[in-house]
Amino acid sequence: MNVIRFADLCAQGQVAGKRVFIRADLNVPQDDTGRITEDTRIRASIPAIQMALAAGAAVMVTSHLGRPTEGAFKPEDSLAPVAARMGELLGREVPVLANWVDGVEVQPGQLVLLENCRVNKGEKKNDETLARKMAALCDIFVHDAFGTAHRAEASTYGIAQYAPIACAGPLLAAEMDAISKAFLAPKRPLVAIVAGSKVSTKLTILKSLANNVDQLIVGGGIANTFMLAAGLKIGKSLAEPDLLSEAIAVIEAMKARGAAVPIPTDVVTAKAFAADAPATIKAATEVEDDDLILDIGPQTAQALAAQLKQAGSIVWNGPVGVFEFAAFENGTRTIAQAIAESSAFSIAGGGDTLAAIAKYGIEKQVGYISTGGGAFLEVLEGKTLPAFEVLARRANP
Ligand code: 3PG
Repeated sequence: MNVIRFADLCAQGQVAGKRVFIRADLNVPQDDTGRITEDTRIRASIPAIQMALAAGAAVMVTSHLGRPTEGAFKPEDSLAPVAARMGELLGREVPVLANWVDGVEVQPGQLVLLENCRVNKGEKKNDETLARKMAALCDIFVHDAFGTAHRAEASTYGIAQYAPIACAGPLLAAEMDAISKAFLAPKRPLVAIVAGSKVSTKLTILKSLANNVDQLIVGGGIANTFMLAAGLKIGKSLAEPDLLSEAIAVIEAMKARGAAVPIPTDVVTAKAFAADAPATIKAATEVEDDDLILDIGPQTAQALAAQLKQAGSIVWNGPVGVFEFAAFENGTRTIAQAIAESSAFSIAGGGDTLAAIAKYGIEKQVGYISTGGGAFLEVLEGKTLPAFEVLARRANP
């Protein structure tokens, strides 16, 4: 993707003494006491900050945290816990600055964290006055918030329009490169795994991928709807019978391209949705009326694993079974191990997928793990993210 890269500006010596405004995505989960429960996004923001400081910039960083009411700051909206964690990671004090829109005092070599940008009035609606004020704070705007790249807000989009220079930070650039590698010129066969409870929430993704991928592996409740579409019984498993025609359309669209949606040949069932419910492996043709399908069966898992090992590129979004319960995790574990062992370039994203990757310890064997939730899903839908669009436009005026 043709955008200006912050790393290049640093290498060209264009950053020394400049005011650099980094929009990161530091929207991390917190418990009721405000303690950060998962800090991946903070860790992912560090390279851009270090790059800017090493280049001799005066560095401002901001992010949203949660979905606060604009103009009504509450203590729980504060980025203070994020600043504390960032300080530990950087080995330096990270001061938090409130009410920063009209001016920020920061010198080269210094770093300030600008308080939750979603508290500013006009942020969500990408208000032009607010965006122009933020742009006026800096010489260089660095978009490094892939998790928010699907939003066109004042601190992600408007500022990129008006800042003297707008570029992609190292995290955003890495996400862009991984996405291009998987979707623009993928090594084939390209295999996508799309799993989740409902076809309805991922229908646009399924339709979009049906035009591109060579194999579309479906899992979870989505697979149940596809099994119904293939004429199989699914007992009382989660499914959306009203979306059968959509599932059939996806299967037909894939078939017409010589591609396929593999339907499970065996499944793991239980009579109740519980960790201790006795699990039964059975052929997909033998599901009983009171059965719940909670995982793909071992034969299906092995067949899919073999396909993944032959793949040129793999896109993974969603565990294929109830992997949180030991008796129903075999499918997801087998898929995860196959991805880890495959020489294919793999990209994975989505909360549950990341939890599965962590559970099976395959972080290092996945080609790229996206920090985006909604943003990653919009990429799978085939949408051009606002961040990518505006940065490309600024690079090629
Ligand atoms: C996310 O957590 O997916 C991003 O930070 C975006 O947050 P939002 O959905 O509140 O815009």
